Amino acid sequence: MAAGKEKTVWFCTNCGNESSKWLGRCPACGEWNTMVEHKEVVTKTKHIASAVPVQQHPQQLAEIGSAQEHRISLHNGELDRLLGGGIVEGSLVLIGGEPGIGKSTLSLQIPLACKGLKTLYVTGEESASQVKMRADRLGGDDADCFIFSETLVENIVAAANEMRPHLMIVDSVQTMYSQNVDSSAGSVTQIKEVTSILLHFAKSTGIPVILIGHITKDGYIAGPKVLEHIVDVVLQFEGDDKGSYRILRSIKNRFGATSEIAVFEMTGKGLKEVLNPSEMLMPIYERGLSGTAIAAMLDGMRPFLFEVQALVSTAAYGTAQRSATGFDVRRLNMLLAVLEKRAGFRLNMKDVFLNMAGGLRVNDPACDLAVICAVLSSSFDFVIPSDICFAGEVGLSGEIRPVNQIEKRITEASRLGFRKMYISSFSSLEGKKTEGMEIVKVADVPALVRSLFK
Ligand code: TYD
Ligand code: MG
Repeated sequence: MAAGKEKTVWFCTNCGNESSKWLGRCPACGEWNTMVEHKEVVTKTKHIASAVPVQQHPQQLAEIGSAQEHRISLHNGELDRLLGGGIVEGSLVLIGGEPGIGKSTLSLQIPLACKGLKTLYVTGEESASQVKMRADRLGGDDADCFIFSETLVENIVAAANEMRPHLMIVDSVQTMYSQNVDSSAGSVTQIKEVTSILLHFAKSTGIPVILIGHITKDGYIAGPKVLEHIVDVVLQFEGDDKGSYRILRSIKNRFGATSEIAVFEMTGKGLKEVLNPSEMLMPIYERGLSGTAIAAMLDGMRPFLFEVQALVSTAAYGTAQRSATGFDVRRLNMLLAVLEKRAGFRLNMKDVFLNMAGGLRVNDPACDLAVICAVLSSSFDFVIPSDICFAGEVGLSGEIRPVNQIEKRITEASRLGFRKMYISSFSSLEGKKTEGMEIVKVADVPALVRSLFK
């Protein structure tokens, strides 16, 4: 290959936007200080992968036959559901997450669970014998799983073309490189090139490819965000790598619904599906502690009930500390300000710590009510009875606002044995099933306090 001209480009590490000059703020996503410099060698024979095979003439929509996509079941109920009913042939699926969260474990479990699914597992991170050790630990049937320790993507494609597996897994995109570009493995240019080559391979052979990508905790360089537009499906691991629960969220799916989640538990034998996530998030001890409240939350289409924990104590130093795990600390500050201004609680000299049980990251505003109740419960040292749960958004004037899909939340709460639910008095329950649940409607924070903490 002839050496090409060197060109300098800047990439946004947040959204992957490319620019020909340095900018303090990315014009695409608006983030500050995210542009990083990359030297790109421009060669004339640049490989351009198209997401779909090139078509000769424009066609009328009605003329085009609607081919049903073929799906392959991965014998993992939650993963199949997240993908929209199995992996689509010829699709490129990206699984992202922080190191140590379980990406390699989950992807190795696939061939071990699927008898007869010839899988090529390419590893650029571990040696073949390390993968073997992990596979032994996970157990299962390894007859159809082939391990290939390689990092040059052209060699991988050649091996796959010869072997014709039913599925290919590439662990991870950051360790792979292509001969087409001159920068080092893991750089934005390499990551994009490797991904387009794999995309081209998937589309042209119909073999689905699962690509693993790391996101580092500290404002990662060249993370999977750069690839989101290229791939068909993006699944992202969330959760606490110290806790045992892992949430896999579908962020993009060309063949199914997004904002779906699946919950897994990391055990000694790999990741196990958690079919009733609410049950795992319930309090682990007998109830009777102050500072906890149960929220009926919705994540994607799934209702969840989980415990919000708060600790309110007198500030040891002059300034009060506010800290939140799994919850936006600015939103916590807003809720505390509402409590102070609209309901007269003096919290400015108090430390407030908030925690969402199970390492969950919450952004459903319906959890506001439970957050406020947990804070008040800790502050008054008042135990909220164990059969009560909450679903409501709190507005700036202290009003409790209705939340979506209230019926689903009620059904799930009832299934888990809750008998009483606090919701907004502006929620309409007409014609909706309440499953014998006692519904307490509250209009604002003072009304909630009068009703619950009397
Ligand atoms: P891994 O899949 O290597 O994470 P990633 O590929 O995302 O970097 O696994 C991460 C952790 O999981 C590792 O610390 C060990 C743990 N683990 C288990 O607890 N049980 C198991 O059966 C396996 C295989 C791993
Ligand atoms: Mg790994």
